[in-house]
Amino acid sequence: MKVLVVGGGGREHALVWKLAQSPTVSGIIAAPGNAGIARLAETTPIPAHDIEGLVRLAEERECGLTVVGPEVPLTLGIVDAFRARGLTAFGPTRAAARIEGSKSFAKELMRRAGVPTASARTCTSREEAAAAAGEIGYPVVIKADGLAAGKGVVIAADGHEAETAIDDAMVRQRFGRSGDTLVVEECLRGEEASILAITDGRKAALLAPSQDHKRALDGDRGPNTGGMGAYAPAPVVSEETLADVERSIIGPTLEGLAEMEGAEYRGVLYAGLMMTDGGPKVVEFNCRFGDPETQVTLPLLEGDLAEIMMSAASGDLDPSAVGARPRHAVCVVMASGGYPGQYEKGKLVEGIDSAEAMNDVVVFHAGTRLEDGATVTSGGRVLGVTAWDASLADAVKRAYRAVDSISFENEYHRTDIAHRALSRQNTGQGTGP
Ligand code: AMP
Ligand code: GLY
Repeated sequence: MKVLVVGGGGREHALVWKLAQSPTVSGIIAAPGNAGIARLAETTPIPAHDIEGLVRLAEERECGLTVVGPEVPLTLGIVDAFRARGLTAFGPTRAAARIEGSKSFAKELMRRAGVPTASARTCTSREEAAAAAGEIGYPVVIKADGLAAGKGVVIAADGHEAETAIDDAMVRQRFGRSGDTLVVEECLRGEEASILAITDGRKAALLAPSQDHKRALDGDRGPNTGGMGAYAPAPVVSEETLADVERSIIGPTLEGLAEMEGAEYRGVLYAGLMMTDGGPKVVEFNCRFGDPETQVTLPLLEGDLAEIMMSAASGDLDPSAVGARPRHAVCVVMASGGYPGQYEKGKLVEGIDSAEAMNDVVVFHAGTRLEDGATVTSGGRVLGVTAWDASLADAVKRAYRAVDSISFENEYHRTDIAHRALSRQNTGQGTGP
């Protein structure tokens, strides 16, 4: 079977890498892909939002399965367009993708299904939003309802900051139409974790819990980024807690979606959780794999990913086909100096081959392209250097040894990926599997 993978970041490289190991996959096409993906797949410069172009490609090249990485084509209805032409695509329909595309929709769904989450109010005017913030109390979280490329959330410390955030969204339209409606919600405290559940809409298989590192600098300082590294399994989610998440969060959410016309959820459901004193609560749902969480969860997945995705997309998932390797995985993102602000592109990347010559190391490309046969930088997050080992501490060491052999001008990375889990181990709290 030929597989089409839509997208061109580190997440999609990890998907292509895992799919390429599947005996049922005869070839992979990636649109648009990147320099690393091009080593494993044919790449074609069709952007991820060109749904008609992608349908045509899948038809012409007879792709038996299409896997969609980013949220934008999913919320635009790429899966509906594929299904209408009799093509199989792994991912939720447009109606089901609203779980990420509209925060107020997700909140209403959680309220009806009794899923634990921050208490919130959906507001359509600035007066209403300011009043809601005052009632909830500070700090308060103010979120643009629609997609905002990860920038639509502000944690406001007081009324003045809340008002600025509300006016940025509703008056200055910083997020376009995405900010016409705001969700104003209670600020949750605790450690965050990400759960990825592969589902056919009824049955679900939870992958290893992971933890992202969103801040640019060591010690979780500096501006927010798309993610500077991740590790899995995250011991903050014990096996008991994971079972609770499946029972009280994933299950009722899928049931709630299945009750809505056209919204039965097939694909991967990403639950961003806060581990509060009162148990796990949902911070956000995403309708896709996480980036860089995928780079650490797929190396720990035992099983044929293409078959698992085919069965989920066809409504016939066998959760026992989704196994877990008894390993720990760590991904360190190597970024362009200046990111998440302004940065330069086109820097020559050296040393990838020697990093990949190490055992149990894979270098996922996020922002690279080929220039006269050489790999050069083309984005803020450039590489996700990933390693696995029997213990988390050894996986961390292995990943950083690999990072040390790679270089490009103005490169920077965090040196403390997995610090929460490591300090938890040092203080003798739960050690995870
Ligand atoms: P989101 O775009 O919903 O993923 O939010 C981005 C980030 O904002 C999350 O990963 C959290 O770190 C933070 N955040 C969102 N909602 C809350 C909340 N209710 N309480 C505390 N932090 C939050
Ligand atoms: N790592 C966060 C996300 O994929 O949304």
